[in-house]
Amino acid sequence: AGLAGVIDWECADIRDLALAPALAAPGAIAGLVVCNPPYDARLAAEPALYRALGDALRRAVPTWRACVLCGDEPLARATGLRAQKTYRIFNGAIETVLLTVEPIGPLRQSVPAETVALTAGAEMVANRLRKNLRKLKAWREREQVTCFRAYDADLPEYAAAIDVYATDEREPRTFLHVQEYAPPDDIPEADTRRRRNELLAAAREVFAVPRENVAMKTRERGKGGSKYGQFDQRGEFVVVREGAAHLRVNLFDYLDTGLFLDHRPMRLRLADEAEDTRFLNLFGYTGAATVHAALGRARTTTTVDLSGTYLQWCADNLQENGLGGARHRLVQADALSWLEADSNQYDLVFCDPPTFSNSKRAGDFDVQASHVRLLRAAMARLAPGGALYFSNNFRRFRLDEAALAEFARVEDISAATIPPDFARDARIHRCWRITAQ
Ligand SMILES: C[S@@+](CC[C@H](N)C(=O)[O-])C[C@H]1O[C@@H](n2cnc3c(N)ncnc32)[C@H](O)[C@@H]1O
Repeated sequence: AGLAGVIDWECADIRDLALAPALAAPGAIAGLVVCNPPYDARLAAEPALYRALGDALRRAVPTWRACVLCGDEPLARATGLRAQKTYRIFNGAIETVLLTVEPIGPLRQSVPAETVALTAGAEMVANRLRKNLRKLKAWREREQVTCFRAYDADLPEYAAAIDVYATDEREPRTFLHVQEYAPPDDIPEADTRRRRNELLAAAREVFAVPRENVAMKTRERGKGGSKYGQFDQRGEFVVVREGAAHLRVNLFDYLDTGLFLDHRPMRLRLADEAEDTRFLNLFGYTGAATVHAALGRARTTTTVDLSGTYLQWCADNLQENGLGGARHRLVQADALSWLEADSNQYDLVFCDPPTFSNSKRAGDFDVQASHVRLLRAAMARLAPGGALYFSNNFRRFRLDEAALAEFARVEDISAATIPPDFARDARIHRCWRITAQ
């Protein structure tokens, strides 16, 4: 458009806003600020950012006019700007608030951003979080649990799960992994956004976590958490502690983190039972169970997964714990076909298949349709006296007990494998101990 010469671009934090000297000179004419800050870009739309914007404008350009398009009323209020006029307008489908300010006015002694009060809704969530933390405190201290579920849609309007991941002692930091359940279609977008922002504000306040340590994802309820929304590509792994294991998790780049927290008791049980066993981990994912078995002194471990990415993650997890080498075998294969072709024996087997998986290479896997065949093949590899732990998190799963009775003894141990932090959602997984008849 031939305007490049009259536009200056700069990439900077709003907190560092400063005028070009010519504009700041005495007698320079006042200008107009037009600003469209994030309303929802996941975590950016928060009162502290809007407060910083308002403060920056009052410090840098107090005599100017401003039009600021804000995500919602609480965010508009957080700017601290006194609007002459406020308009409710739609930006596409998103309802927003447009403030017009003339003049912006000087910066008064402002309240520090951190002390911006929570809204009533956010306060309610914060209270619930504190209550949950009190309830889990004794258990967490006794068991030294540092990664746990702190909230699971306890207040139905604030429908998200909040998991806390504290990194291990070498570099202690706290991260929050927030999974929002997609709201029903009849809830207005503005309400969803407000509640999301309130939930995040409450969580950050209670856990004193900076914005960049909060991962926010949306998952569809009841669909096994299909992939939804946008993911980061930070490539940032942090190491957390579970029992004796150091495990690498990635909070930002995938829907899941690399560690299913509801399976913590199952993994600790494997660690307890692993001594001197040949351990087999089917659908091994990032190998957290493998690491536990290896630290529990399994003689050998074999981890089978279709994904090269997850097997590499498993290798890194082993290495993180000073493990590796020929005793720990990683196999990239379709678990069922591999098992049916295998001829080795194992004393301890963990089999935690997905509900369903599509794969060009291996064909589809469906736990309901294939579990009898899968378990028959696994039992054929189990050494005398061995145990197979089978679990999955398909909520409508029905174990074909009659078919299994032909070749195995089955004990439902689900209740004993649900940890206190998942008590609100005891159906998150089911688990069976399967032995020879
Ligand atoms: C651990 S399972 C699912 C765990 C958890 N219960 C869930 O539903 O998300 C997921 C793992 O199975 C692997 N997987 C999927 N289909 C597979 C197949 N046919 N053979 C081997 N591994 C497979 C995936 O790569 C992934 O690491």
